[in-house]
Amino acid sequence: MNHPSTSNLLQRRYRVLGSHSPLFYEEPLQLVRGEDVWVYDADGKRYLDTYNNVPHVGHCHPHVVQAISQQAGTLNTHTRYLHENVVNYAERLLAKFAPSLSMAMFACTGSEANEVALRMARHATGKQGIIVTDFAYHGNTAAVAELGTGFMPEAQNSQRVVSFPIPDTYRTPDGLSGEALANHYLQAVQRAIDTLEARGLGVAGILICPDFANEGLVYEPDGFIARAVAQVRQAGGLYIADEVQGGFGRTGRYWWSHEWAGVTPDIVTLGKPMGNGHPISGVIASESLIESFGEWGLYFNTFAGNPVSCAAASAVLDVLENENLLQNAVETGAYIAAGLRELQSRHELIGDVRDKGLFFGVELVRDRDTKAAAETEARDLVNAMKQAGVLISSIGKQNQILKLRPPMSFRREHADLLLERLDACLHQVTEARRG
Ligand SMILES: Cc1ncc(COP(=O)(O)O)c(C=O)c1O
Repeated sequence: MNHPSTSNLLQRRYRVLGSHSPLFYEEPLQLVRGEDVWVYDADGKRYLDTYNNVPHVGHCHPHVVQAISQQAGTLNTHTRYLHENVVNYAERLLAKFAPSLSMAMFACTGSEANEVALRMARHATGKQGIIVTDFAYHGNTAAVAELGTGFMPEAQNSQRVVSFPIPDTYRTPDGLSGEALANHYLQAVQRAIDTLEARGLGVAGILICPDFANEGLVYEPDGFIARAVAQVRQAGGLYIADEVQGGFGRTGRYWWSHEWAGVTPDIVTLGKPMGNGHPISGVIASESLIESFGEWGLYFNTFAGNPVSCAAASAVLDVLENENLLQNAVETGAYIAAGLRELQSRHELIGDVRDKGLFFGVELVRDRDTKAAAETEARDLVNAMKQAGVLISSIGKQNQILKLRPPMSFRREHADLLLERLDACLHQVTEARRG
């Protein structure tokens, strides 16, 4: 098949989508095909995908493709008719949550799911304030943009959103550690509660990604989430866990990331991996939250939970279960983590390696003592890896943390290739800096 040249497509894209519609890489990549953990560009070059979590069970998984195609060829409607797909799917999905999380509402994107969660929490508590980290991203609607302290201008002026510092155990204030560090962050959460109360808004909830994924997959101090949630609940607020990135078994040991902290949220939001690329997202909460929200105001969403979306989402669950992919996340994840730590022992640039199943944050520093962020090196490494046929990305306040989240079907042979190329590119970037 003939594809436009990348430069031609780029110019045309700028003309019709504007120059700010984000693209990865110094030389953007025109992808034309995907299969399992591989994607192919317009010139036929193959890339190992170690970044994309949306094709959760692998690009174009035949079982998911077949489910979508079969349902699309049978019936698709908006969601005000009875259809068994949505009921079957909700029953299956809810069985994977703690008993208190017993009802679902569907949406199409993570942003919409968080928007519903905000409205639900504000309605249920009668309060307005929301607490987030100081480098958060939870989506792009007007209300959700107010939470985007790391990325969105709206977050700077919002009175009803107050942030606390990322509860990082690597970059720590004043060299604090252990209980003193936990207390430092917990005091910040308490200050956020006090601020919202002083403004007369009260606390509707704390909304966090339990993996702190956009924050760089930081490790929280022991017990931080449980204690912060207890403080918020004490103030009358709810715990909203944004599992848009970490849900559906990515972190291996559990289906849901919030389970690591041992505290059941009041509301969970889901998205990205849910339909393997087909747009479906969800809000999971208790019967009383969902029923009282539904009674208060109409929630109708034309496409959300339609028969095709639910066929896709059910097929994702089939593959996760039938191919034992949570176990694979545990095993392959541990193998990659060991490989990354071995690279850390040989490459000074790697300051810290954090892993949770098939989710990795690799923090690059110029100096291990000062922890000066190696942002240019991270950028160069991401681009060099692309040249070497492996897709990764970076995140963090200075974009200094490599972010890896491959499809759940990623195996040891893929890990070996990733680690070998990363080793070579680390040498390349380090030498280029020295030279
Ligand atoms: C943690 C988190 N929540 C929510 C969203 C928003 O999801 P969507 O882009 O599907 O609206 C994102 C997107 O990157 C995200 O990372």
